[in-house]
Amino acid sequence: MTGVTARVPAKLNLQLAVGPPRADGYHDLVTVFHAVSLFDEVTVEPAERDRVTVAGEGADRVPGGRDNLALRAVAALRAVVRDGGVGPKGVHVVISKRIPVAAGLAGGSADAAAALVACNELWASRLSQQQLCEVGATVGSDVSFALLGGTAVGRGRGERLTPALAPATQYHWVLAFADGQLSTPEVYATLDRLRAARAGDRGGPGRSGDPRGPEVAAARAQSADPDLDAALMSALRSGDAMLVGRALSNDLQPAAVSLFPPLRKTLLAGVELGALGALVAGSGPTCVFLAANAKRALDLAVSVTGAGVCRSVVRVTGPVPGAAVVSASQ
Ligand code: C5P
Repeated sequence: MTGVTARVPAKLNLQLAVGPPRADGYHDLVTVFHAVSLFDEVTVEPAERDRVTVAGEGADRVPGGRDNLALRAVAALRAVVRDGGVGPKGVHVVISKRIPVAAGLAGGSADAAAALVACNELWASRLSQQQLCEVGATVGSDVSFALLGGTAVGRGRGERLTPALAPATQYHWVLAFADGQLSTPEVYATLDRLRAARAGDRGGPGRSGDPRGPEVAAARAQSADPDLDAALMSALRSGDAMLVGRALSNDLQPAAVSLFPPLRKTLLAGVELGALGALVAGSGPTCVFLAANAKRALDLAVSVTGAGVCRSVVRVTGPVPGAAVVSASQ
């Protein structure tokens, strides 16, 4: 085989509930992932050594070399399937980007997921989706979901997934891309700081400890553990976009807005222009608006563009399937 191409979607988080920081620096999450029709394409070809070429949206900001998540995924898969003895040792990964970089849409994780399914085919490794998810989880928290797609509840770092049982409703989204990027670790750290300051103001465990004693402080810390939003899950089961719009939530949003204040205006504009719901995508700075149907999404996209509150606007639908091979040449 001389080349395999896989296509992979961006993700939204319809709920993103973030717990306190863990000892390993990550945060336990409860999130509702939702894959949407904004796709990157990744082609893998046998080569002398691993290398990556990136073209398209934000290509100049995608790290090359060992920091590239798709190359890391190739190395992680190779370590598992030990292809070293057969076929070429290296892979040339060619990424064609439409998902903006550092935008809260898990574009890097998506490219890693696409590289996994493409190399699985190129090397005829025959790993199951579950096995690829296990490899993917070592590369990034969102890689497993990019493999699975659809709508799914994520726990742990986001890598423990349960598909959401929901009717085959298609949702219409408008994405407003910002003129800038946000660093995911910085957004999480800002959330921790905002929470510590708030707890400190209340005399809670964030700064000075709880005056009612360590048990109460522990209980307060416990209550910060994230929960799945029953209203959102019931809205998804009903397939009613109005209810889904009302139930969208993202704990990272205040942190993203504090690091990128123009987002406040973008979110407000979307709501004023008729969105059923508005929120920041993941760690931002993309803003996400839900529309009632395709026609409303078109109207909303036109008016958000006209309002001049973002760099550019796209319409997408969801849910869509996860990373999949679209072509293979012999
Ligand atoms: O797993 P991934 O490399 O995508 O995570 C990027 C960063 O986001 C982590 O280094 C961490 O700072 C933050 N993060 C987190 N808790 C999660 C997922 C990501 O703190 N559950």
